[in-house]
Amino acid sequence: MSQLLALANDACLKPVQTIAVAGAKGGIGKTNIAANLACALSNMGKKVILLDADFAKGNVACLMNLDVTFNIAHVMTGEKLLSDVCVDGPANVMVVPSANGVMEMSRMSQIQHANLIALFSQLGVDADTMIIDVASGLSDEVLNFTRAAREVLLVVCDEPAAIQDAFLTIRALNETGDVRRFRIVANQVESSQQGLDLYTKLTRYAEKHIDVLLDYCGSVPYDRQLQQAVRESQVVVEAYPRSASARALKKLAVRVEKWPRPQSPGGHVEFFVERLVQAECEAR
Ligand SMILES: Nc1ncnc2c1ncn2[C@@H]1O[C@H](COP(=O)(O)OP(=O)(O)OP(=O)(O)O)[C@@H](O)[C@H]1O
Ligand SMILES: [Mg+2]
Repeated sequence: MSQLLALANDACLKPVQTIAVAGAKGGIGKTNIAANLACALSNMGKKVILLDADFAKGNVACLMNLDVTFNIAHVMTGEKLLSDVCVDGPANVMVVPSANGVMEMSRMSQIQHANLIALFSQLGVDADTMIIDVASGLSDEVLNFTRAAREVLLVVCDEPAAIQDAFLTIRALNETGDVRRFRIVANQVESSQQGLDLYTKLTRYAEKHIDVLLDYCGSVPYDRQLQQAVRESQVVVEAYPRSASARALKKLAVRVEKWPRPQSPGGHVEFFVERLVQAECEAR
């Protein structure tokens, strides 16, 4: 335990804004939003790390056409330092590729998760923002990474299953992780009104059942140019900067940049690590 706490304290180098891009339903656009947001923020002068935390089927490297030799699993086994596995992505984003399909990663203990997160905040020397592309579903892994972040950006789209999954994510994080504030972005909308309606629907439902704050961050339109960019293994803000989706994603980045940043060194990460260690000790 003391080793972990020391690690967590060492991690207190400089505040890092940590944003988890989540949404329980698969295929709704989390990775595209995370990757494009990372690039857009980087183009605005932020120093951004993009972590692919989808250990079963992470595809950030594929979306960004990156050559990957090492990944996060090599850091966990101690073979490599985090800085060794970071790859330069588009717009100077530093990308940490996932250990795709490596089962051990999906079965990491809570302490290993905490260890990993502490390692990340050590890397934060050069970064001021970390975007975490979280996997679908509501597994411990998903919930751990999401609640570890200071901000949760929840992606929703206009399908009954997506709204229900968004609500379940909100409830699970609220109940088990004390997360109260969620930022909402509507993806693949046909109009901005559709995005707003979707947010209103979700808010009515969620606020009736749980004590949470949902902050609407706008919408990203359904856009064939985004799909074309995906086919070309590119992010749309770089490939088609004037497309409707790229413009919306850049607007989202402007909004995200205005969110309050963590004041204490290490941001929110060390609190997460300490909470995990405490829970582990209480269980013994
Ligand atoms: N705004 C959009 N307009 C059109 N198509 C979109 C949009 N956003 C996402 N898509 C389509 O949805 C596909 C899946 O997107 P993405 O991989 O970002 O979803 P995901 O939520 O990360 O999926 P997973 O749950 O598998 O991780 C994209 O390849 C693209 O074809
Ligand atoms: Mg994804």
